Formats: sequence, C-alpha cells, structure tokens
Amino acid sequence: MSLQEILEYRRSVRYFDEAKELNTEKVKHCIELATLAPNSSNMQLWEFYHITDPEMLKKMSHACMDQRATETAKQIVVFVTRRDLHRKRSKANLEFEKGNIARNSPPEKQEKRWRDRQLYYNRLIPFMYGRFFGLLGIFRKILTIVISSFRPMTTSLSESDMRVVVHKTCGLAAQTFMIAMAEIGYDTCPLEGFDSRRVKKLLKLPCGAEINMVIPCGIRKGTLGIWGERFRVPFDEVYRMI
Ligand SMILES: Cc1cc2nc3c(=O)[nH]c(=O)nc-3n(C[C@H](O)[C@H](O)[C@H](O)COP(=O)(O)O)c2cc1C
Repeated sequence: MSLQEILEYRRSVRYFDEAKELNTEKVKHCIELATLAPNSSNMQLWEFYHITDPEMLKKMSHACMDQRATETAKQIVVFVTRRDLHRKRSKANLEFEKGNIARNSPPEKQEKRWRDRQLYYNRLIPFMYGRFFGLLGIFRKILTIVISSFRPMTTSLSESDMRVVVHKTCGLAAQTFMIAMAEIGYDTCPLEGFDSRRVKKLLKLPCGAEINMVIPCGIRKGTLGIWGERFRVPFDEVYRMI
C-alpha cells in the first residue's frame, strides 16, 4: 500500500474478528517503529505497554469501561508519558551526543557544540521539567511573561504546558504505531475513554506517569466494527493558505 492507501485504510475499528490472531512480534515491531516519531528535545518521555496476557486484557477492558473495541481486542498497547524520567533521558541524550558530535561535527565546531548540548541537557531541560510540587511551573510562567515582553521566546513552560508537551509527543508515537499497524493489515482504535487511575494501577505505574492513549488491536471483521463512512468536515473549512 502507498502511504495514502494506508491512511485511507486505517479506521477506528471497534469490533475485532475473534477468529483472527495477531503476531506478537509484528505488533512489537510496530511499537518499535513508533519510537521513530519526532519528539520534543529528543527526550523520548514515553513508554509502551504491550498487553497480550488474556487475564490482563480482561482487566484492561474493564478499566476502559468494557468498550467493544477492548472487549474484542486480541492485544492492547498503552501509551504512557513519563515526565518523571527527564533526568535519565537527558543523561542518555548527552552520552549519545558525545560520540555523535565526535563522529559527525567538523573538528573546529565540536567544542562549542558539546558545550551547547551540555548546557541544554544539564541546565535548560531540568529547569523546564523540574516540578517542586508545581511551584517551579508558576515561576517559569512568570519569568516567560516578563522575558517575552522584550523578545520572542517559548512561553509554554508552565506545569500544564509541560504535560501538553509530553502528551503531544506521545500522540505522535501513537499515530506512527497505528499507521505501521495499518500497513500490515492490523487494526487499531485509539481510546481516551478509560479510567486512568485504574489503568495506572494495573500497570503498576508511578505517580509521575500518565496514560496518553489506550490502543486495542486486532483485525477487522468486514465492516462490522467500522461505524459507516468516514466523516471529515470540508477541507476548505480547516485549510488556510497564507
Ligand atoms: C485521542 C483520541 C481518543 C479517542 N477515544 C475514543 C474512545 O474512547 N472510544 C472510541 O470508540 N473511539 C475513540 N476515538 C476514535 C475517534 O472517534 C475516531 O478516530 C474518529 O471518529 C475518526 O474516525 P477514524 O479514526 O475511523 O478516521 C478516539 C480518537 C482519538 C484520536
């Protein structure tokens, strides 16, 4: 399938064929492809929980209010944001960048690039992601309002802004996953209809983690699980050329 055909094939499927199993390795590969999604500062503050155990699938379905898609899903993938892992990911980025700069930057630019990366991942990122009971977010917001009145700068640095940042990133990974699944004829249905407290408890997640999306997976049974034709508002209504 061409990319256009894949995008047209992908639908939110709410009923999966009970007779058709998924190949776990293939689904795992699609999750791996999802990690190629662009993500903020390359921090990769995401995790993917691939559920294949029948007992766990039942519990997850219950936490998703027993929607038809989860009840009939052969596997479920939960996309999770992990703001709390920012220090670990910064360290991983810096370790990688050290070699990356040595291998790929012109010798005369290496020292400055390494200094810039260190500043970014050792100072700026901890400042952006730091919480201290939410107080740092308020401080950042005030600071950005003051500075941005003199020059343009990123102003979305409050506590809730940083939550949006990691959820945006995770949403891109979820979409990449669904497209990869569609390419091999596997179906999905992105869900926000779930009890996040229950899902977190089932997955034994720490309080810094948040559920971004729950994606039941299976193979469509004809058009049974697809709610009719696809509806999009007229393109002219959402497209603006400037
Ligand atoms: C963030 C998000 C949350 C969604 N939550 C649900 C849900 O809880 N239950 C459901 O049946 N569909 C859910 N959907 C699927 C949408 O209803 C669906 O994508 C939309 O109707 C467009 O249809 P299509 O995906 O077939 O193009 C969700 C989609 C997204 C992107």
